[in-house]
Amino acid sequence: MWQRRPGSHDQRYTLQQNKLHAMTHVVLESCIRCKYTDCVDVCPVDCFREGPNFLTIDPDECIDCAVCIPECPVNAIVPEEDVPGDQQHMIALNAELAKNWPSITKRKAPQPDAEEWKDKTGKLGELIR
Ligand code: F3S
Repeated sequence: MWQRRPGSHDQRYTLQQNKLHAMTHVVLESCIRCKYTDCVDVCPVDCFREGPNFLTIDPDECIDCAVCIPECPVNAIVPEEDVPGDQQHMIALNAELAKNWPSITKRKAPQPDAEEWKDKTGKLGELIR
């Protein structure tokens, strides 16, 4: 008589759930109007998507490797679990924008006035979709 191997289905289900809820990295508001793109060159899975003045990380592609974090001159990339309280909206925004924006895989020139904007906060209103 067929007998279910104890835990096998449950274990697989749990693994799938974990994948669905796998952590990602998130681009914060600091990137807006800077878009230095140093992060793009090091991504092993090409998970960056490019908008007019901001990059986003596709949470379905990010493997949580963290190699992009030290590349960003304005510290705009953090693991999802470290997104500050006042930047929580950026988690959903990264996911939303990543669906519509094209992939970027090569570094390019930053925004022309990136230096002027790199230390500014509260830049969400500057985001161009
Ligand atoms: Fe943005 Fe920093 Fe990358 S400014 S484009 S997250 S290097």
